Amino acid sequence: MEQLVFVEEPEGTDEPRVHAAWLPPEAFRALGARRVLVHGHGLLVDTVLDEVSRACARYGGRVWHSPSWDVDVDLVLALRGAGELPNPAVEAARAAGEAALAEFGDGGTLGDEGFVLARAGEVTAVVADAPAGLLYGLFHVVRLCAAAYDPARPPERHRPALRRRMLNHWDNVAVHPVMGQVERGYAGGSIFWHRGRPRGDLARIREYGRLLAASGVNAISVNNVNVARTEALLLTDRLGDVAEIADVLRPYGIRVHLSITFAAPVVLGGLSTADPMDEAVRAWWAAATRNVYERIPDFGGYVVKADSEGQPGPFTYGRDHADGANVLAEALAPHGGVVHWRAFVYNHHQDWRDRSTDRARAAYDHFVPLDGRFRTNVIVQVKFGPVDFQTREPVSPVLAAMPATRLAVELQVTQEYTGQQRHVCHLGPWWSELLRFEPWGPGGRTIADVATGEAEAGGGLVAVANTGADLFWTGHPLAQANLYTFGRLAWDPRLDPSAILDEWISLTFPPSATADPELVGRTLHEIMDDSWRTYERYTAPLGVGFMVHPGDHYGPGIDGYEYTRWGTYHFADRDGVGVDRSRASGTGFAAQYPPYWAQVYESPDSCPDELLLFFHHVPYQHVLHSGSTVIQHIYDTHFAGVEEVAVMRRRWQTLNGMIDPAVYERVAERLDEQMRSATEWRDQVNTYFFRKSGVPDERGRVIY
Ligand code: GCU
Repeated sequence: MEQLVFVEEPEGTDEPRVHAAWLPPEAFRALGARRVLVHGHGLLVDTVLDEVSRACARYGGRVWHSPSWDVDVDLVLALRGAGELPNPAVEAARAAGEAALAEFGDGGTLGDEGFVLARAGEVTAVVADAPAGLLYGLFHVVRLCAAAYDPARPPERHRPALRRRMLNHWDNVAVHPVMGQVERGYAGGSIFWHRGRPRGDLARIREYGRLLAASGVNAISVNNVNVARTEALLLTDRLGDVAEIADVLRPYGIRVHLSITFAAPVVLGGLSTADPMDEAVRAWWAAATRNVYERIPDFGGYVVKADSEGQPGPFTYGRDHADGANVLAEALAPHGGVVHWRAFVYNHHQDWRDRSTDRARAAYDHFVPLDGRFRTNVIVQVKFGPVDFQTREPVSPVLAAMPATRLAVELQVTQEYTGQQRHVCHLGPWWSELLRFEPWGPGGRTIADVATGEAEAGGGLVAVANTGADLFWTGHPLAQANLYTFGRLAWDPRLDPSAILDEWISLTFPPSATADPELVGRTLHEIMDDSWRTYERYTAPLGVGFMVHPGDHYGPGIDGYEYTRWGTYHFADRDGVGVDRSRASGTGFAAQYPPYWAQVYESPDSCPDELLLFFHHVPYQHVLHSGSTVIQHIYDTHFAGVEEVAVMRRRWQTLNGMIDPAVYERVAERLDEQMRSATEWRDQVNTYFFRKSGVPDERGRVIY
């Protein structure tokens, strides 16, 4: 029997409660104007059907759900296992998909999330093995717009390079006295929690799941890695709150994970110890975990920050990180869950007078000796750099040193150190550079390969989310692009970040809804594409890092951390600046890399300019590969960076009246603040180094 799905357009959809980000109704115009057949069954197939139905209700197309008779369609979205249809045109398109798949070789596998897109006659077919693949295929069709129906389009197969594409929310359930509702959050409150309770806006969480699925993200942790009393309870008494989120995100293929406290057996279970070798502790974790799976059968697992910045961990009991991670892994294994055990472990009670301790060395020193000891369902989650999400850092050497461990690379979408969503700082080019880095030297495996792992068993890509209850999701509307780009790079790290940016622009500012799409697209691209390098120019120079205002990490504080316990120093004096991390005369950090890079980083002569001060302490008159001296480079880049922000602001002004006025105003305000803040950075950094060095600017510009 023919089943025509009819969905009435919900009232008031022209006035969304929140900004639609990269899924405005207009982005569905090409799809919604067509005749679409959805063939197959399952929770995520229902999601596909729902998406298509809404689009068709709005733009005049039609949708059928199998079983269906002979209808003329433009697009079929079909599960491979679903039976044949008595429709020659549709079956021809499906057959084209099958044929394409056979041509791709390797047994024509698509996996749980892959899909193939092919054309036959007048019909486009999206074929997948599993419902999630169909959902990703649908969003691909949306991205392609009219191009999805181009008769000349060759068949294409898509499978995620990384199986695990995860966001960590640093959201607190109860408002933290210092960090607030969301630690390092710059987008209002949490979409999950509000002052100690669930926020209760499930529609918003669903909308979020939809955005994430359309970017490629398939896992999320819903609470901060720093787990306080209220948050600890999510594992037990308040598990229902987590289950509620999981129920809402499930139709979008997103699995929920939980950050837990290692001390849970004590603080929740009333045991006298959390020693991972203690039988009662093991039993407690096993029981607590079983209980979680009873409520949330597809629960993803635990995220753990242990023995780090004051969080409890196995050290208290004389155990190491492998002992700690394995007790949790053992509890999760019967249910298919994983532990994301963070490698962000260092001594945060350093003495600045002690030159032998180097925070950059810490993760390697703690974790590399444990390689091979972690259970197979432990993922060691490593920050991309050895220090802390700086605007520029070398890639963490841990990522090249644990071949017998599943490793995940952790990025920070929330802009803690990159302008806190008040500055435009598009991070795609930076992440792409990191993922393409070859830690064993040119031609070798990349960081993306490490995250992919052997037989796709790697830990994948994880990022700290930048989203919140803000109208625009991310505070700065243009920061949405960072979240989108993260998902896309996690799906395929080889994508060109500049092309992803254009993709985001045309989804978020659909050409069909813009008076001058060429101008809007070009202007946004020009403002955003190089904005990470602009940000780098006016902040800490040459990879030295930090120099931020202590605590909140916003704005310049050149000596803010210079004499603190946190181990983030630049050692500037009247003669020079930078940290000697060479093997020969410094902390030896450079020797943590495989030979190729160990040698490159060891000497200031071969060290790349952008990382020079991360690895070396050099005189101000040291000549860079660029031909400039260090001091002149500092002046030049800081003047240039501010000028670039002024250009960004002028470019933005050309969009006045061309785009959504609310977006225009929000970005305009933020650009004013970026201009103020960049000027502050320029003047403080330049003045600081002029006073230290006494070397004037060659070009005689004003330094205060
Ligand atoms: C940074 C950040 C903290 C966060 C920590 C982490 O240090 O400032 O707020 O808790 O990273 O990654 O755990």
